[in-house]
Amino acid sequence: MSGAVLVTGGAGYIGAQACKSLANAGYLPVAYDNLSRGHRDAVRWGPLVEGDIDDRPLLVETLAQFHPVAAMHFAGYIAAGESVVEPALYFHNNVSGSLTLFEALLASAGPPVVFSSSAAVYGLPESVPIAETAARRPVNPYGETKLVVERALEWLDRAHGLRHVALRYFNAAGADPDGEIGERHEPETHLIPLVLDAAAGCRGPVEIFGTDYPTPDGTTIRDYIHVQDLAEAHVRALDYLLAGGASMALNLGTGAGHSVREVVRATERVTGLPVPYREAPRRPGDPPILVADVHRARTVLRWQPALPKLDDMIASAWKWQQRSRNR
Ligand code: UFG
Repeated sequence: MSGAVLVTGGAGYIGAQACKSLANAGYLPVAYDNLSRGHRDAVRWGPLVEGDIDDRPLLVETLAQFHPVAAMHFAGYIAAGESVVEPALYFHNNVSGSLTLFEALLASAGPPVVFSSSAAVYGLPESVPIAETAARRPVNPYGETKLVVERALEWLDRAHGLRHVALRYFNAAGADPDGEIGERHEPETHLIPLVLDAAAGCRGPVEIFGTDYPTPDGTTIRDYIHVQDLAEAHVRALDYLLAGGASMALNLGTGAGHSVREVVRATERVTGLPVPYREAPRRPGDPPILVADVHRARTVLRWQPALPKLDDMIASAWKWQQRSRNR
């Protein structure tokens, strides 16, 4: 396949990796990003249009310039904790921004959309692994905004035939295996980068949020998925839509869970360094276990993770962090 693809949030952690996968598959990724949380130097595989997701005239102009065959919509705020404190910021950027984009798409040729959703739409699941048919009951504004956008897309398809695939990410991890791009959040709240910083001695001990969960070692379990596998799944979802596929939602994970203590041990194994840690109270709103049922994505996209091992995810993130520090 070929053609331009509009990638909102194309300067961010997952968006930039998707741009690389798109370019490798023969597409022209057009990154659209206001660089408020993304990084200019992560845009390497196509042009960068610097703009806000709620700037409708600029979106319309960009669509008229590049005539994309599809849009990948990554732009959005992602910190669940921050969303509890600043709900209006999240609803404005994630919901209102998405609607501006969808209206601009409909005012052009109405190309299909691959949407960055999240396991956060499920909230506290009744059972694991979680299938796409599980109840969507988010427990924070971040998850709520992702759910509202999923619902808006469902209605826009019915009303206007705007097709989409909503990809519900579990825990994105790792960095580009070639070391070109990686995770750089400010402030960093995610477990793996914090554990690596603790190992490198450039931050204090990592806090383990809760050791009394109903899990084998008492710490929370998550389904970590390599960012490159996520990026590849986006290209498959795009190909599915361009082949005429119907709108749907898909979980993206490996189907395997790892506890916080396992992440700490794996990091010690990979880096050869001790990880200083401190046991701390639970973080509000954290479900004990989030693991994806991945059958639908495997069947529909004919995709499966190429880098499913936690040690490989941590090793690529470690390589990226060391390079970034030495720059
Ligand atoms: N954790 C710690 N200490 C830390 C940071 C995290 O113990 O310093 C724990 C958390 O309590 C959690 C686990 O490690 O149980 C993973 O935490 P992250 O903050 O790395 O990721 P989350 O599971 O909270 O959230 C991530 C994304 C969300 C997405 C969710 C879906 O950030 O956007 O995965 O599973 F919705």
